[in-house]
Amino acid sequence: MARTTAPDAHNSLDARSPVDAHSPLDNLDTFEAVIAADGRIEPRDAMPDDYRRALVRQMSQHANSEIIGMQPEGNWITRAPSLARKAILMAKVQDEAGHGLYLYAAAETLGTSRAEMTEALLAGKARYSSIFNYPTPTWADIGAIGWLVDGAAICNQVPLCRASYGPYARAMVRICKEESFHQRQGFEILLTLSRGTDEQHEMAQQAVDRWYAPSLMMFGPPDADSPNSAKSMAWNIKRFSNDELRQRFIDMLVPQAKALGLTLPDPDLRWNAERGHHDHGDLDWDEFAAVLRGEGQCNAQRMAHRQAAFDEGAWVREAATAHAARAAQSRKSQEAATEESAA
Ligand SMILES: [Fe+2]
Ligand SMILES: [Fe+2]
Repeated sequence: MARTTAPDAHNSLDARSPVDAHSPLDNLDTFEAVIAADGRIEPRDAMPDDYRRALVRQMSQHANSEIIGMQPEGNWITRAPSLARKAILMAKVQDEAGHGLYLYAAAETLGTSRAEMTEALLAGKARYSSIFNYPTPTWADIGAIGWLVDGAAICNQVPLCRASYGPYARAMVRICKEESFHQRQGFEILLTLSRGTDEQHEMAQQAVDRWYAPSLMMFGPPDADSPNSAKSMAWNIKRFSNDELRQRFIDMLVPQAKALGLTLPDPDLRWNAERGHHDHGDLDWDEFAAVLRGEGQCNAQRMAHRQAAFDEGAWVREAATAHAARAAQSRKSQEAATEESAA
């Protein structure tokens, strides 16, 4: 079967082909065989209901996070400290809107409409990443978000470029390229502040102190408390466990923090030569659970803002629907006219 080809196909042409040319898988045994051979599943393929549900949940949550994630940074567009910073931040926030749209579109191939996903978000039935419920009180928070939040997103998302579901994996390829620009711009904001006045250095340090632990929690609960992970890994949606990804991220941050001249707020953080990794302190999972329950500093504000944006956008959706209906009508009349003249 052409679909169960060598793994490098994932990263080359296969990763860019918009539609799989093969005939759809018609039964679940073939699905299992494709997964076992580390192949790709495409929209028209037979797939277990659980696989479809797990993907819709993960992809819609991911899309929601991109859209809600525009708020803490969008908040600083009018107050960016220079024209260049403003232009960069606007581009970044627009990228996040784009990520949300690719991901909603990719999730729609599983049979759930964007309208349904939006409705679930607004009704509080679908989640977004809890990190976006933290506030951005200073300009340095924009640097910390880029460095830590986009940085954690990259660690999470690079392996998703090899996820078994084709549309998700292909969306991730482009998203990851943009995320790496986001992380660099955050790092550069922090570097500039860290090398600035004492007050600016302190502002950068405080922002890192605020965002460090929440960014580590973005990888999700410890493996022992993450019941969905094993299934996701068996289906090749997830490639590494929460704890593995968190460890990789911490190991990556330590030398970067040193280059920034900033410290990471964890007294237990130290190199463990035996493990070849950094040991680190425990995270406050009670806080994580509270934010998930809606008790974070900005949960209510984020949802109210999203609801208001949705309501204010009603006329755009109505206009687009009316335009699409009119275009379809005029296509139909044109076709009818062509047929008549041919007859
Ligand atoms: Fe993004
Ligand atoms: Fe980003």
